[in-house]
Amino acid sequence: MERVTVLFNPDNLAVQVEPGTSLMQAATMAGIELVSSCGGDGTCGRCLVKVQDGQVSVANAGNISPSAKQTGLVLACQTCVNSSVVVDIPGESRLDEHQVLLDENTFLMEKDIDLADGFTFKPLCRKIQLTLSPPTLEENVADWTRLQAALRAEVACTDIRISLSVLRRVAAVLRTGNWQVTVTVSQVNGCAEVIAIEPGHEANVNRVYGLAIDIGTTTVAVHLVDLDSGLTIGKKGSYNKQARFGDDVISRIIHSSERPTGLDELHQAVMDSVNELLAELLPLSQINAEEVHLVTVAANTTMTHLFLGLSPKFIRLEPYIPLAAETPPVRAKELGLNVNPDAYVACFPSVASYVGGDIVAGTLVTNLAQENEVTLFIDIGTNGEMVLGNKDWMVAAACSAGPAFEGGGIVHGMRAMKGAIDNVEIDPISFNVEVSTIGRCSAKGICGSGLIDCLATFYEIGIIDRAGKMQNDISTSRMREGDEGWEFVLVYGEEAASGKDIVLTENDIKNLLRAKAAVYINPT
Ligand code: FES
Repeated sequence: MERVTVLFNPDNLAVQVEPGTSLMQAATMAGIELVSSCGGDGTCGRCLVKVQDGQVSVANAGNISPSAKQTGLVLACQTCVNSSVVVDIPGESRLDEHQVLLDENTFLMEKDIDLADGFTFKPLCRKIQLTLSPPTLEENVADWTRLQAALRAEVACTDIRISLSVLRRVAAVLRTGNWQVTVTVSQVNGCAEVIAIEPGHEANVNRVYGLAIDIGTTTVAVHLVDLDSGLTIGKKGSYNKQARFGDDVISRIIHSSERPTGLDELHQAVMDSVNELLAELLPLSQINAEEVHLVTVAANTTMTHLFLGLSPKFIRLEPYIPLAAETPPVRAKELGLNVNPDAYVACFPSVASYVGGDIVAGTLVTNLAQENEVTLFIDIGTNGEMVLGNKDWMVAAACSAGPAFEGGGIVHGMRAMKGAIDNVEIDPISFNVEVSTIGRCSAKGICGSGLIDCLATFYEIGIIDRAGKMQNDISTSRMREGDEGWEFVLVYGEEAASGKDIVLTENDIKNLLRAKAAVYINPT
């Protein structure tokens, strides 16, 4: 079939596609990620792009006003190309690749957190230098048996294993090193496994690294850890590329279970997210992918399933059962993770359905299980989870809070990206507003922490009442009636990145209150 060209501006990126391809698909092919809160259902209105030239078919125009339509504005997920087209992508429609979760390019070389009482730094992977006695006619045991015997004293473990690919190298390496070798050993599931062997007492015996990966529904963060010293030496964060299949775990589960290639697409998307972060992080820290020998992953139950390529289908169907709560350590090469192919990848176990490994990891590092005091640990995101307890008892709960705390369903809501308002202060007399933004640049919208600030401040100074209703009699021109009812102007257009006013509407407040209600604990 004859192909047509889609040229995306301001990137000046062109792709060849078949007629009938959606602009959303074409953008993905061009490597441009658009915001897609509804997963391409045409309901969220977040994937707006402007067709500057060429013929398109619009299946669903959404809520775009007639005047905006005249300018060429369409929903990318609902618009297919009929001819070669030129398309402009507004900044607010793209998942900014510089999403800020962590200080970018931060290299720490210091202990990131103090290990809680009772924890000692004991990595699951390390390099060990061994000197073996050479075989003789009197002592003629096999090379691997000899190596096992020497290792047994070092690893305090009787079950010592090796993969076939490493075993094939043992005889040559022992002799090249004149019976001195450096082995890299992982200890998982009660056994020790030789995952690499080098001749001699390698000068780089201290160079063994691990990754701690946090996979959120919205964002992915990677910490690079020196497994010899325990130092966190670098970290990077970005958005989860699965976002193009929908904002929340339910849309991802539906996509993975109802589309023939859905599970593969979601698995690949999260792998791409992690591998892209590694491609930036490892060269900056002058570490080779081969030197990363261990990976741990904390994620909610659905994310863990998708990371491992397991179907999460039954998590959303009564009685809400995951395929696996505890998953075995797997090899990096089985997942397509760009580290040492034989590195073990271990995921934190889930507790049940939506109470996942991320909350388990949080409970572990906060040392909640050692505390005398009853402590509440809350993780609020698209999924809301909490643990209450102390050293004697513990209960956990999870709920779907919806994407409001990530900016979904809020007129000017956005994720925690550059330009997101993350702090709001309002003078109680003049109602003048001061905001700070992530990246200290012009405001583009409001992220979760800014929204929570707004809710609290609005209530404290009487902009809303207890039920979230706007008090439209307050004396400020910032309170006004807009297309969706009463709204409060946080940033006027002249100071906003888009040139348009950034407001919080009464409807936004309702959505936030619903999300808050979803994670509410009744103390009685
Ligand atoms: Fe296009 Fe939601 S309307 S992704």
